Amino acid sequence: MSENIAVLGLGLMGTALAETLLAAGHRVTVWNRSAAKADPLTAKGATGAATAAEAVASASLVIVCVLDYQAAREILDGADLAGRTVLNLTNGRPAEARDTGRLVAERGGDYLDGGIMAVPQMIGGPGALILYSGSPAAFDRYEDALKPLAEPRYLGEDPGLAPLYDLAMLTGMYGQIAGFLEAAALIASEKRPVREFTETLLVPWLHAMASAQPRLAEEVESGDYATEVSNLEVNRVGVANLVIAFEEQGVRPDLLLPMKELIDRRVARGHGAEGLSGLIEELR
Ligand SMILES: NC(=O)c1ccc[n+]([C@@H]2O[C@H](COP(=O)([O-])OP(=O)(O)OC[C@H]3O[C@@H](n4cnc5c(N)ncnc54)[C@H](OP(=O)(O)O)[C@@H]3O)[C@@H](O)[C@H]2O)c1
Repeated sequence: MSENIAVLGLGLMGTALAETLLAAGHRVTVWNRSAAKADPLTAKGATGAATAAEAVASASLVIVCVLDYQAAREILDGADLAGRTVLNLTNGRPAEARDTGRLVAERGGDYLDGGIMAVPQMIGGPGALILYSGSPAAFDRYEDALKPLAEPRYLGEDPGLAPLYDLAMLTGMYGQIAGFLEAAALIASEKRPVREFTETLLVPWLHAMASAQPRLAEEVESGDYATEVSNLEVNRVGVANLVIAFEEQGVRPDLLLPMKELIDRRVARGHGAEGLSGLIEELR
């Protein structure tokens, strides 16, 4: 079913969203603070709006994708939200999503929050995922319209859930990139080919290691950190050795040091027999 959709914010991501919705046959009205960014979209059939409020008035589904929540809220100021659904795809925090959800509800609108797990080039293609949370009725109503953007995953009524899961997934990614950077620096310290190492050894190894994470997650949920794989005392010695090796190779172990500190602390508290999942107790 073709919907009237407004897209507010035409940066790299907003433009990709508007283009994909247009290509899927929706009636799309666009607005951006710097008006010129709307031109390529109006050339493709979108309707340009002079103000954000005018774009909102044209649509039943209002998608906002700007720099941050403060900008998103400023844009919605003064717009008539009654009877419309606001879907905020701006990256933010759970508390910001909950506040924005309350504000939209006070003004008579339905609120959905979203976390885009893709870069703009992936929108509308395979592998793109968008996490949603907020009004279940709004998600039911617009799920089909939103499907062309990315695989939708609805997490629940609390609008804070999409940013919570988004941030958790980004956290996993940053940890992986940190490991990659330290590993690459170690390989490069001997002028060995980093790309070959990454493709043939590191990535397959990380895949194999990642498959153990559901077991770690089970231990986190149960609070039973007993291990038959490798305990923290063994890891303490292993990571201490790693850090010395880095120093010998002339590479800074900066991204590894917080992990070493965590393991040392947990062992010092008498938990050396636990597995790595026990480290979560030091983070809570
Ligand atoms: N790019 C990605 O890979 C990616 C992936 C996932 C999520 N996201 C999220 O998507 C959102 C947009 O990212 P993007 O990549 O599209 O960024 P971008 O290309 O830098 O665009 C930023 C957008 O925000 C607008 N904006 C900034 N401050 C504003 C204000 N005070 N009032 C009104 N509009 C304002 C800009 O308007 P002007 O054009 O007038 O400056 C522009 O439309 C961010 O929250 C980002 O975290 C991006």
